[in-house]
Amino acid sequence: MKLEVLHFPNPFLRKKAEKYEISSIDREKLRQFIRDMQETMYSSNGVGLAAPQVGVSKSLFIIDLDQKVERDEDGGIISHQAGNLMVFINPVILSGEGSIKSEEGCLSVPGVYEDVKRFKKVEVTYFDENLEECRIVAEDMMAIAIQHENDHLDGKLFIDLLPTVKKTVIKNKFLKGKTL
Ligand code: CO
Repeated sequence: MKLEVLHFPNPFLRKKAEKYEISSIDREKLRQFIRDMQETMYSSNGVGLAAPQVGVSKSLFIIDLDQKVERDEDGGIISHQAGNLMVFINPVILSGEGSIKSEEGCLSVPGVYEDVKRFKKVEVTYFDENLEECRIVAEDMMAIAIQHENDHLDGKLFIDLLPTVKKTVIKNKFLKGKTL
């Protein structure tokens, strides 16, 4: 089932997500939620999606940087193939190093694409979809995606990282209900 994606400035996006109690997770419910998140992300043409974006205040996000999308000349999707879906439950970014700047967008801030500076490399622990505890070092695009999605769990959006003037312009346009 495709879920509704909340848009800035919805105050729900500012809530800090709750951690899962891993030992008492309802696995069937979790599996269904991950399926819904996947469907929502793929059909919205996103590479990452965090639970708070669909109105669920839980510490979970998904990322798939290897999707194959075939488009027609108007940008419509002809075919979509899932790549490598990663599920992060209760993630913790242990450390970050280096710096990398790249253009980011967000399904909750439609139409806005801006350069943001992040760590180039992060070390993160999390539980995967099988509730196995994992620890990885991610670099470049994966590091950027993890930091972007993890921010959602803290009630932060990528536009918070922009210079104040730029952020104000974006905020005003959204408050007026205009699309950029
Ligand atoms: Co986002």
